Amino acid sequence: MRPLSSRLGPLRHSPVSTVNSLLVSQPPGLIRMHAGEPNVPPPPELIEGLQALVKEYGQRAFAYAPVLGLPELREAIAEDLRALGASVEASQVVVTPSSTTGIYSVLEALLEPGDEVVLTDPTFMMYRPIVESLGARVVWLPEELEDGFQPDPEALKELITPRTKALVLVNPDNPTGRLVAGERLRAIVEYAQDKGVYVVVDEAYRTLVYDGSYDFAWRHSQEAVIAVNTFSKDPGVPGLRIGYIYGPEDIIRALEVLGAHAHFGASSLSQLAILAYLRWPGRWGFRRSIVDLYRARRDAAVRALRRYVPSARFVEPPTGMYVFFDVGAKDSEALVKGLLERARVSLMPGSAFSERYKGALRLTFVTSEPQVIEEGVRRVGQYLASVGIG
Ligand SMILES: Cc1ncc(COP(=O)(O)O)c(C=O)c1O
Repeated sequence: MRPLSSRLGPLRHSPVSTVNSLLVSQPPGLIRMHAGEPNVPPPPELIEGLQALVKEYGQRAFAYAPVLGLPELREAIAEDLRALGASVEASQVVVTPSSTTGIYSVLEALLEPGDEVVLTDPTFMMYRPIVESLGARVVWLPEELEDGFQPDPEALKELITPRTKALVLVNPDNPTGRLVAGERLRAIVEYAQDKGVYVVVDEAYRTLVYDGSYDFAWRHSQEAVIAVNTFSKDPGVPGLRIGYIYGPEDIIRALEVLGAHAHFGASSLSQLAILAYLRWPGRWGFRRSIVDLYRARRDAAVRALRRYVPSARFVEPPTGMYVFFDVGAKDSEALVKGLLERARVSLMPGSAFSERYKGALRLTFVTSEPQVIEEGVRRVGQYLASVGIG
C-alpha cells in the first residue's frame, strides 16, 4: 500500500505516546505519579443531577448534540466564567470533546504550513507535535527556573516576526505550575494583539490555584485571546472527555465547521453530567475543598523532595497538579524507565516538556494521599542515589 500521511511523523514521536503507554501499564505496587488524574471521585451531586437530567431529556440524552454543544451547557459555561470574572457570552463558547480535541482544532483552524508559533520552554507536551504536524514551525520562548519560569515580555518581542500566527501560554502552567498575572500578562496580550498575533491560553488548571489568584487574559483582549479549557481537572472527570473554548466569534465559527467534519459534537450524556455540575450551587464549596486537599498534597510532595532528593532544583508550584524538579539527568527518559522498573514509581521525563530542562522530572501530587506521595518521592530519592544522581 502507499504510505500514510507524513503529518503523522511528529505525532508518532511525541511524548504523549509515553503517557498513553504508562496508562495501560499496571505493575503491582506501582505508585502512579505520571498523569494528572485525580483519585477524588466526582461529587455525588453531579451523578444525581445527571440522573435527573436524563429523566428530563429522555431520548435527547442519547441523541446528537449540536456541534457547538448543548445551548444550555454553553450558557452555563458562560455564566460560570462571568461569576469568576471573565465577561463571556454563550455565543463565544464552543463545547469540545476534550481539550485535547480543542487544542488540535484551534491549531488546525489557525495554522498554514510555514507559520510560526511561539511556545514557552518548558511547556505542555501536546503543542509541539501538533504544530509541527501541521507544517508550522515552533519558536521557543525560554523560561528560567531562577525567575519562577515567568515569561519575559521583552524576550517575546524579539521572537515575533511577520510569520508568527500565535503564542501559546499554558496558564497556570503544566509542568511548572507557574502563574502569569497582572502587568506581565497584560503586556504580553497587548503586544500580541498589537502585532495581530493570537494568544492561545490553555486554562486547564485555572481553578487549582494555591497561592495568588487567577487572572484572565481575556480581560485584556477579546480579539486576540482564544482560551482552551477542560473539565478533566475541575471537577476531575477526564473520562467524560468534555472541554470548551471561548474566543472571538470567527474562531467559534471555524471550530463549528471543523468539528462538523472531525467529530460532529461531544457526547450528549457527558455534556449533561457537566451541566449538572455547573448548575449545582455547591460547586464553589467543592472547588475550595479540592484546592485545600491538593494544597496539602503539594506541601507533602515539596517536603518529601527536600528530604529525599535534596539536590533537586525546583520552584514550589503555586498552582496545578505537578512539581517539575531538575535533577540534572543526562537522559531523563532512561531515568524514568529505571524508576518504573526498579523503583515502581511512574513519573514523566523533563525531555517531554523542555529542551533546556530535559534533565528534570515531573511528578503529580494529585493521584494519591500524602503518605503515598511521600513514599513515592522516597523511592525516587533512593533510586537516584543508586545511579549516582543527587
Ligand atoms: C495543560 C493541559 N491542557 C490540556 C490537557 C488535556 O485535557 P483533556 O483531558 O480535556 O484532553 C491537559 C491534560 O493533562 C493539560 O495538562
